[in-house]
Amino acid sequence: MNKFSTLAKLSAAALLSTCVSMANAGERISDFSLVDAKGRFFQLSRHANKEAIVVFAQDGSRDVRKAAKDIAELTAQFEGQPVEFVMLDSTGNADKAALRKAAEKAGIELRILIDDTQLIAEELGLTRALEVAILDPKAKEIVYRGALNDRFAEGKKARRASEHYVADALNAIIADQDISTPSFASNGNAIDFSAKSSQIAEVSYANDVAPILEQRCVTCHQEGGIAPFAMSSHQMVQGWSPMIRETLITKRMPPGQIDVEYSNQFHGVNHITVEETQKLVHWIDSGAKNDSATDPLAEIKISPVKWGHGEPDMIVNIPPQTIPATGTIEYRNLVLPLDLPEDKWVKAVEFVAGDTTVLHHIIAWAQAPDNGNGRGNAFGILNQGIGLGAYAPGNSINTYPEGAGFPLPQGSGLILQMHYTSSGKETVDASEIGIHFWDEEPERTILGGSAADLEIAIAPFEANHEMVASKKFRKDSYLTMVGPHMHYRGEDANFKLVYPDGSEEEILNVPNYQFNWQKTYDFKEPKFLPAGTEMVFRATFDNSEMNPYNPDPSAEISWGEQTWQEMMFGFFRYVEADEGE
Ligand code: HEC
Repeated sequence: MNKFSTLAKLSAAALLSTCVSMANAGERISDFSLVDAKGRFFQLSRHANKEAIVVFAQDGSRDVRKAAKDIAELTAQFEGQPVEFVMLDSTGNADKAALRKAAEKAGIELRILIDDTQLIAEELGLTRALEVAILDPKAKEIVYRGALNDRFAEGKKARRASEHYVADALNAIIADQDISTPSFASNGNAIDFSAKSSQIAEVSYANDVAPILEQRCVTCHQEGGIAPFAMSSHQMVQGWSPMIRETLITKRMPPGQIDVEYSNQFHGVNHITVEETQKLVHWIDSGAKNDSATDPLAEIKISPVKWGHGEPDMIVNIPPQTIPATGTIEYRNLVLPLDLPEDKWVKAVEFVAGDTTVLHHIIAWAQAPDNGNGRGNAFGILNQGIGLGAYAPGNSINTYPEGAGFPLPQGSGLILQMHYTSSGKETVDASEIGIHFWDEEPERTILGGSAADLEIAIAPFEANHEMVASKKFRKDSYLTMVGPHMHYRGEDANFKLVYPDGSEEEILNVPNYQFNWQKTYDFKEPKFLPAGTEMVFRATFDNSEMNPYNPDPSAEISWGEQTWQEMMFGFFRYVEADEGE
């Protein structure tokens, strides 16, 4: 936990009025993650190979534009050094496109991190535009905080900078010396924290915290749930509160978060709002107390529902799989007959995992009658090889939109790809699949495909390997689902549409791709794609030692099924629009 509460830090920063010397102050901060103006992810701990991270507070005011040249000079001076420069937009109302435009106009080339909750400015004690915090990303400490130079320092009025505080501090850091640079408060605009401060005062466990946890976390964090602890009482939550704070500030929980801009476009996206995050973190920072006589979390009656999508029309019991305690487990491919009495149309597919400690994913395909026999692809897989649905933690229900179904002719079966990871204990997984059928043949067949590139070649230690794949839609269609798939080196991904008139639209951005949370994203409103629209799937891979999931940064990576090899698939589902539509 922090040595300094954020409140204490804020007041300390406010006291930093004129000249306070901070020789290697070393205030502890927590790891944090933010999305930048280009939709890319920044996590402090993933930059621990740098000696210093220099953070400039920015608020879009004239102060920042005025400093653009000084900042450019500073970054040029440290070119090639293990120092990284970023801007922090803590206005709490940043718009990515507007930020990018303003930065371009002002000639600012730094990454602009969007501190939407303003919690990072608080954490770093930044209160004014252009104030600078120098962070030691390895020790997770603030080693210097103050004005950039004497043009932007309170009480100084230099026309041209002659005292370069931040540069001096950085030189000391690089030379491994104590920082003896004096620290001046920035003379920039005060950042408006009004929205936030009003929430610091009165966050109530019973009225605020418990309902947020119930809505955002308890589905998994309950007795028998897939998460490692149950948020079943105030005491439990208080005990876990330092960890809860860390997972919120690094955007690790709720899991599988996508760029906020897209959270409401899809069904079932795990999400937490800015205000909810502020409330939880402020409540934790002020001691995580319960101020009332009741404990709403302890009173929640959880009646576990086995089938979240309702009782299925057909339940398929997957033959129990014995999973050894250790070792790599090759994918298991099972073929199961379905004994359908007649041709059917699937409406939804749900998976109930047997043992979540070992089950990694299941992909279900439909196998054509008589093992293909001229139908389906080479393996007899129907419907262009797209699965009926998939299970991964947090992704167990697959639905198709109104009027669209997946055909399962009489005599067809299921082909299952089962992926397990060993857990240190031998166990048996008995998972189930529930299938819902349409009563009548739907108007449209759900189709699928992918924008993929199988030619993967990622060099050892390569940190930022970008790949792009695309797919053109030949007929007017409605896009119903997209889902990125990569393995442990996968870092981020997005989907973009390029329309026949040349205009472009990003439709999903996953800034922090997590192999462990294989989500597919079902659109609430299927998206119309005029014939000729191209889907562009872009993905970045991080094969460096800074990727905490990387099993071996020294390996050269090519395409392969196993998790230490890579894949690059932008999956999608769609239906063709009717003639004349
Ligand atoms: C979709 C299911 C799901 C939801 C929703 C969810 N969690 Fe989790 N949580 C997990 C799982 C699974 C783990 C185990 C670690 C992992 O797999 O990342 C976990 C782990 C954690 C941990 C322990 C982290 C660690 O390193 O051991 C904390 C703290 C936590 N979650 C907090 C939260 C909070 C706070 C929320 C709500 C804002 C939340 N979770 C929502 C599934 C979930």
